[in-house]
Amino acid sequence: MHDIIKKAHELLTPALVIHNDITVKKAQGIYLEDMNGKRYMDFTSGLAVANTGHNHPEVVKAIKKQADALIHSGCMFYYEPLITLSEMLKRITPPGIDMFFFGNSGTEAVEGALKLARFYTGRQGIVAFTGCFHGRTLGSLSLTSSGTRYRRKYHSLLPSVYHSPYPYCYRCFFGQKPETCGMDCYEYLEGVFKHLLPPEETACIIIEPVLGEGGYVVPPMNFLKRLRDLCDKWEILLILDEVQSGMGRTGKWFASEHFGVIPDIMTIAKGIASGMPLSATASKKEIMSRWSPGAHGTTFGGNPVSCAAAVATIKTIENGLLKNALTVGKHAMNMLHAMKEKYDCIGDVRGLGLMIGIEFMKKGRPYADGLKKIMAHCLKNGLMLVEAGVDKNVIRLAPPLIIKKGEMEKGLEILEEGIKKAG
Ligand SMILES: Cc1ncc(COP(=O)(O)O)c(C=O)c1O
Repeated sequence: MHDIIKKAHELLTPALVIHNDITVKKAQGIYLEDMNGKRYMDFTSGLAVANTGHNHPEVVKAIKKQADALIHSGCMFYYEPLITLSEMLKRITPPGIDMFFFGNSGTEAVEGALKLARFYTGRQGIVAFTGCFHGRTLGSLSLTSSGTRYRRKYHSLLPSVYHSPYPYCYRCFFGQKPETCGMDCYEYLEGVFKHLLPPEETACIIIEPVLGEGGYVVPPMNFLKRLRDLCDKWEILLILDEVQSGMGRTGKWFASEHFGVIPDIMTIAKGIASGMPLSATASKKEIMSRWSPGAHGTTFGGNPVSCAAAVATIKTIENGLLKNALTVGKHAMNMLHAMKEKYDCIGDVRGLGLMIGIEFMKKGRPYADGLKKIMAHCLKNGLMLVEAGVDKNVIRLAPPLIIKKGEMEKGLEILEEGIKKAG
């Protein structure tokens, strides 16, 4: 074991899970290089962050230029990258989203969204969905339900938060199949409003438009639309958490575009600045402009260097990466569907763009042991993957959006060898 890893085990809290026992010296594009010069294809993008690829030259250039000029503001004054970025976000976010608050991380964006929803509506109730991950700070953690490991020993969490099952069709909470589906999950949600939480006391409904940590699950096309209608009926704010599904990951700027649904508030982080810490709580002006001075704030949020990196990131993604994500994503889906026909242990393949989940099952049960073996094989052979799902039996494919078809094929060949061995 490398000395750095030994020291890390000694010095860093075990609460922080570092997924792979390798030490990376440098990274470029889709490739990581460890201390011994071994290269890995990164099909995780550093957990759906390096959407432009690691150390994209344009992003690095923008960071260096901004660092030379101005690193920090602490909200003491204005600076140009903050406004350039806001104007760009206004352009790429769904119509009507035109005001922003910048933080440093996904969880901060969610905290901001919750506070804004309560502040604006004067209501307390919050509805979230089982399986979603929204962050680890106590507010966002009250919503997170992608696994009890995140919540254990932290109760009591935020009151007036209610959960309804996410529409996870492959393993339907209600045991339905697509042919028998009567949208029981939606009915359950209506039940929450009948039995537990009066809709007129509900500030917001928050959901990931595509489930991330919970297993890369794409909901049925009309589910989000029905949520939108329900919110409109009761003047509840719809918050879409696009922290993982945004910034081109699904082949559109934001996953909500696939469903034709416009949120009242949205959260953006991860891919926004190609790895520099930055997040945004974004909303319609009529909502966010009512947030009074001091009702929310930050010291580091919207850091000039992060904003400059985000501007370069958006320009880079605009330069053909959405299309590439759709093309290479489709190619990957075709290859994976063919693999599903060959290997019984692949239960489901699903996704949008380059947000693809492969769910492993054995004898009708989640096959987490197999997945561990497959991922170990892949890492040994130069392919880094990350799992998802409450049972840790889903591999998520989230490579940088710059990935070429040939690189995807090479990665999937390694994966297939792993499946052959473990399956
Ligand atoms: C959908 C979603 N929301 C919020 C978060 C929290 O982001 P962060 O880890 O930057 O706090 C994540 C992180 O994985 C996420 O996937």
